[in-house]
Amino acid sequence: MIKIAPSILSADFSRLGEELKRAEDAGADWIHIDVMDGHFVPNITIGPVVIRSVRPCCSLPFDVHLMITSPENFIDEFARAGADLITIHIESTKSIEETLEKIKSLGKKAGISLNPATPFEAIKPYTDFIDLILVMTVQPGFAGQKFIPEVVPKLKEIRQFINRSRLDIEVEVDGGINRETCNIAVRAGATVLAAGSALFGAADMKEEIRIWRKLAIQ
Ligand code: DX5
Ligand code: ZN
Repeated sequence: MIKIAPSILSADFSRLGEELKRAEDAGADWIHIDVMDGHFVPNITIGPVVIRSVRPCCSLPFDVHLMITSPENFIDEFARAGADLITIHIESTKSIEETLEKIKSLGKKAGISLNPATPFEAIKPYTDFIDLILVMTVQPGFAGQKFIPEVVPKLKEIRQFINRSRLDIEVEVDGGINRETCNIAVRAGATVLAAGSALFGAADMKEEIRIWRKLAIQ
């Protein structure tokens, strides 16, 4: 079954703990947490302090998406704050292998993300070390953008590679996922759907997740 990961970027930050609980009660599988530094992407969000403070508010795995330059300097802090899965961008550091090893050595799952324009080739050398590939389906930085359909062939390429190589890697899509695009992404090979505005903005998140699970058949 596909996993659904509401992105807290679209939550009400004045009630963040309750929002996480709301996502859990709605049947979400993971909580997607977008960390931005105003440098790797033109926006600033939250860091380990906030993650630590909301960790007790729900029991779902925290899927932490680092959109920051030099993530290697912050892995310890995010692991200690309560991240279960830490994803770094291939474009964000030269120390990819070292950073992935660091994440794994702390007992966390490791992911690599790639921007819409970055080819799968760029992350191929690391596929033996990772638990997740996070395919950006919008330019990273902001919620509420439109799904970029040109990414679909890359998703299919990644899915074919994983199946052929018999790797145990989740493929997560992030950006512009909604009722219309969730099944496009899943049919192309995604196993995890991260979504902000379409889930936290839904009138009834539980109903929305139920609809997505029906639409997005693998
Ligand atoms: C964008 C973030 C996404 C964002 C998705 O850089 O990585 O996780 O929250 O938001 P929506 O689902 O609204 O496109
Ligand atoms: Zn994200």
